[in-house]
Amino acid sequence: VKRFLAALLAALLAAPATAAMTLSQEERRAILQHGPWPAPWTPDPSNRVSGKPAAIELGERLFFEPRLSTTGKVLCATCHAPFRDFQDGRARAFGHADVDRNTQGLLNVRYGRWFGWDGAGDSLWAQSLRPMLDAREMDGSAARAVALLREDAELACQYRQAFGRAPAADDASLFADVGKALAAFQETLLSGRAPFDDYRDALASGDTAAAARYPAAALRGLRLFVGRGNCAACHTGPAFTNGEFHDTGVPFFLPGGGVDSGRHGGIRKLLANPYNLLGAHSDDPKGSSDVKTRHVDAQHRNFGEFKTPSLRNVARTAPYMHNGSLPTLQAVVRHYSELSPDRVHQDGENLLLRPLRLKDDEVADLVAFLESLTEKAPALPPKRPLIACR
Ligand code: HEC
Ligand code: HEC
Repeated sequence: VKRFLAALLAALLAAPATAAMTLSQEERRAILQHGPWPAPWTPDPSNRVSGKPAAIELGERLFFEPRLSTTGKVLCATCHAPFRDFQDGRARAFGHADVDRNTQGLLNVRYGRWFGWDGAGDSLWAQSLRPMLDAREMDGSAARAVALLREDAELACQYRQAFGRAPAADDASLFADVGKALAAFQETLLSGRAPFDDYRDALASGDTAAAARYPAAALRGLRLFVGRGNCAACHTGPAFTNGEFHDTGVPFFLPGGGVDSGRHGGIRKLLANPYNLLGAHSDDPKGSSDVKTRHVDAQHRNFGEFKTPSLRNVARTAPYMHNGSLPTLQAVVRHYSELSPDRVHQDGENLLLRPLRLKDDEVADLVAFLESLTEKAPALPPKRPLIACR
């Protein structure tokens, strides 16, 4: 009996392991490029306080600071709730009024290249200023934010520690610094390791026993993801995004009439923004941070394109897409499965996207894979004692 049980156990362990062994070289390569996690990161050269502990502290204070809004009621965390992966669970955001778009989660935002669904921000610090200026969101102003930093003794003290000088006299550069401190804090928000990461690392190290612990359905879904589904063409790299813009056939009509032009309008906003990387407030004036901004140019095909979201922790960030129009991961996978080829752009995008016509069990496998990108424990920022500053 003992020998029988041992043989049975060996067979059970071997079955999924052999499945993993049958990966083609191409599949292996495609899977390995989604890690390791967390991916390496270097501080943002356009933000001189990026990675600086005192700035992270100030940024955290500002992130939870209601006085940045006119009514004193809306803070960053109203929409970017820490216990919800820094989003709000709503289809579209609501601050002082309805916003057209879904709130993006902020975990792993430090790896971003463009910010906002339309990429209207070319740095995390510039993007962090936008909600204060939007009447529907915080309805604040640069004047309100800089007055707070100058007049609140505690905040002014934290500012001195973070930036090594008294709050700047010039409103515009002090406002940029508000964004830079907020960015330093947001750069610390990371999602933890997910079941996929253990599988990926086991594959890298040849640990077949550990690889065999990855659920079979998730593995089938992963093979679809990097194979026939072609999902990894856009959801690439450790954060599962190329950081670029695509039209995936999500309607861009707005509920009250009109359209959301996505990347097309985003480029216009970016180029008109005095806080972009070409402006006076970047701390990397002679560096290469602004090369991407120097080269953007709104073209017709950018109309209706939105930023490829990261898929890490995606099981916890419903509803989905830039307008929150798809309620579940099943609905998203079915969207890709039943895509109308006429709806997707003629020039180029249809090479990456075609209706997949998935069977029900394939939909379930892709969903199981997407769920395996989600860490088990809720992601909360590390608790730090707030130290009084004087
Ligand atoms: C009323 C809800 C609301 C508030 C308040 C709010 N945000 Fe957002 N946030 C959003 C929405 C909606 C988006 C998507 C914006 C877009 O595409 O135009 C977003 C996007 C972002 C992004 C871009 C993320 C990415 O992956 O590209 C960052 C960064 C961000 N917010 C930071 C902040 C900070 C910092 C504050 C406080 C100063 C803040 N937000 C306040 C709703 C909000
Ligand atoms: C051509 C590039 C591209 C391909 C290929 C692609 N995606 Fe996407 N994906 C995007 C973009 C862009 C969005 C956001 C679209 C929007 O909001 O309008 C998105 C959104 C998503 C979302 C919603 C995430 C969120 O937080 O809202 C999921 C889930 C997703 N894709 C999974 C997949 C899967 C699974 C496949 C393969 C079947 C796939 N994608 C193929 C670009 C792509």
